[in-house]
Amino acid sequence: MWPALLLFSLLLGVVSAWPSPQVQDPAKSFITLPFTRKLSASPARPKRQAFDSELLPLTVASYYIEVTIGTPPQPLSLVLDTGSSDIWAYSPAARGSCPDCTDIYYDPADSSTAKERPDLGLFNITYGTPNSGVLGYYYTDVIRTGGVGVNAFLGVTTDANEGAPPGGIMGIGLSENVASLYQSGIKYEGYLDTLYEQRLIGSRTYSVFFNEAASTDKDEGVIIFGGYDNTKWIDDLTPFPIVYPSPRGAAELNIEGPAIEITVGDDTYDLPSQSYTVLLDTGSTYTYLPRRQFNVLATALDAELADEDYGLYVVSCDYKSVRGGLDYTFDGPDGRVTISVPWEQVVIANDALPKDVCLLGFIPSPDNEGFYVFGETFLRSAYLLYNYDDLTISLAQASYDTSCDDCVEALVK
Ligand SMILES: *[C@@H]1O[C@H](CO)[C@@H](O)[C@H](O)[C@H]1NC(C)=O
Repeated sequence: MWPALLLFSLLLGVVSAWPSPQVQDPAKSFITLPFTRKLSASPARPKRQAFDSELLPLTVASYYIEVTIGTPPQPLSLVLDTGSSDIWAYSPAARGSCPDCTDIYYDPADSSTAKERPDLGLFNITYGTPNSGVLGYYYTDVIRTGGVGVNAFLGVTTDANEGAPPGGIMGIGLSENVASLYQSGIKYEGYLDTLYEQRLIGSRTYSVFFNEAASTDKDEGVIIFGGYDNTKWIDDLTPFPIVYPSPRGAAELNIEGPAIEITVGDDTYDLPSQSYTVLLDTGSTYTYLPRRQFNVLATALDAELADEDYGLYVVSCDYKSVRGGLDYTFDGPDGRVTISVPWEQVVIANDALPKDVCLLGFIPSPDNEGFYVFGETFLRSAYLLYNYDDLTISLAQASYDTSCDDCVEALVK
């Protein structure tokens, strides 16, 4: 009880530093929340690797958002995930199947506002990484973010596969992608829709800003539900249509390309052009590229395969300070935008590797997938506005220079 109260008051302390939502005027409201980068052990143990097995497991970075669930509030850190649509937490019953899980649980039995929802069927979701499935039940309960509580749906996980995430997930993608739809054909209202329907925000939008590379101390980003901060990007915030419904279920960003150009010191290369759709996924550390594009990048940086199972490559850490990087140019019906990503954002030091060896923040995928996930190693350089009313995602080059605590504007439908 005591640690829970302590965490809860810390959370309120953080939140009050940000513009606070004013529920008196729903149409002008927004909810601003910091999210924090934390490292955790890679969930599954890679089997084949070029390096000594003692060096692994590798750590992966995730972005966590602080929430409380239930009455009295149970504090949880959940991974912020724009690539999925279910919010879930481990229940104490999952302890046996997830020995490496963070030992922060949500127990519906300790919440007077928890209601089981057997009408939605089993909670059963699997993520992009091998063996990552979790199983449990649906509930509704009060989910509180940034001082704003709303009765919302969540999954409560009782069983985890060996590759399951170490902690719960805050999936805030389209309600059209909730896991129950694939399991039992039943759709429920996702978190963003709930905030909107309860008139806590004036549009079904959120904006995401990551901040600078993890090598700096600025590893805290910001998500704003129902608004954006117009000082956090350069040039125009350009909308691109979301593919919906998409062949793969997820809401994807339907863009031709992007065209990718890389610069290494004085040399510039065009990656082979290819048309595909992109999932902008805050839940992914890496950016996945078609093999033929990846190969040009890997050759230019003398990358070596480090782990076959995960497709992880390593490069010399010297590339962190080489001039240049990647320029992604997106061309859409409303304009064109180039996102420039310097090498220091994609050449990643890792404690499990020798000192001068760094991970490359890209993983090759088969050429014919037509669908690729762009994760942290792309997203850090962009300002993102997800608009589920217009079915667009707007992109601009992120600006790290400004510090304005009062520049958030509500977005009203
Ligand atoms: C969970 O979903 C997976 C994939 O959709 C399926 O193979 C599995 O049988 C489901 N598990 C249960 C217990 O329904």
